[in-house]
Amino acid sequence: MKIDNAVALVSGANRGIGLAFVERLILRGVKKIYVGARDISSVNSLLRLHPGLVHPVTLDITNQNQIDMVASEAVDVNLLVNNAGANSNTALIAMEGLDNARREMETNYFGTLSMCRAFAPVLKNNGGGTIVNVLSILSLVNLPASGSYSVSKAAAYSMNQGVRAELASQKTTVIGVMPGAVDTDMAKGFEGPKEKPLDVAEVALQAVEDDLEDVYPGDMAQAVSQGHAQDAKAVEKEFSAYVPG
Ligand SMILES: NC(=O)c1ccc[n+]([C@@H]2O[C@H](COP(=O)([O-])OP(=O)(O)OC[C@H]3O[C@@H](n4cnc5c(N)ncnc54)[C@H](OP(=O)(O)O)[C@@H]3O)[C@@H](O)[C@H]2O)c1
Repeated sequence: MKIDNAVALVSGANRGIGLAFVERLILRGVKKIYVGARDISSVNSLLRLHPGLVHPVTLDITNQNQIDMVASEAVDVNLLVNNAGANSNTALIAMEGLDNARREMETNYFGTLSMCRAFAPVLKNNGGGTIVNVLSILSLVNLPASGSYSVSKAAAYSMNQGVRAELASQKTTVIGVMPGAVDTDMAKGFEGPKEKPLDVAEVALQAVEDDLEDVYPGDMAQAVSQGHAQDAKAVEKEFSAYVPG
């Protein structure tokens, strides 16, 4: 699919990887871009910089009413970027209660699925289009220090496959993006090397142009995915060293 002249929607567009998607989409010549944010005032500067091109929408992906409202307004979308996500950086056993785990599932799995469901008919009306789901390398392997987040991203990875299969007949391409650590607020506690958000967005958007289904932006994600393909158990054992505490 050509991004030049496309109409895109990015969730969680106010910061991090979402903001990088917006910048890259504009560089690649989108005709119009809906920028989703929970607090619409957080995208005011985008609106000032790109009047007429950027259309802010209030969008909490755990709020079905807001999703429905946006889907009924943004009827010209043919490129949906499901970027919004939450990570509490908490473990599975060594955490108090299940609130964090539930919030991650509500956001990363149910929220992303709800967006796919709401926009499937919109994309169909616009010739098929593309969905980009921002998942994680932790979709493939559990990092115990972010155990509950990893579970939610594994659920989203499986969802991505199922949605891809269901929407193939309406010619909607569904792309899974599995980055390793990226230099945003979400990974601020991570000491190792991190990818630049703009580079992650670039790899994902090139996948849209090249009709790829699964992409692993960055050296870490590439190494883990290749290792996982060869020996999933060895990767599990390696990640199991990162227990909390
Ligand atoms: N950073 C990494 O290392 C990394 C690695 C792999 C994958 N990812 C994935 O990349 C995506 C973007 O993450 P990021 O690194 O840019 O993180 P971030 O800087 O923490 O930004 C998260 C974005 O998601 C939004 N968001 C959170 N919950 C939401 C909800 N219920 N409804 C709508 N928007 C919501 C946030 O909005 P507010 O400003 O309102 O909070 C913010 O715009 C996520 O799906 C994340 O899981 C990140």
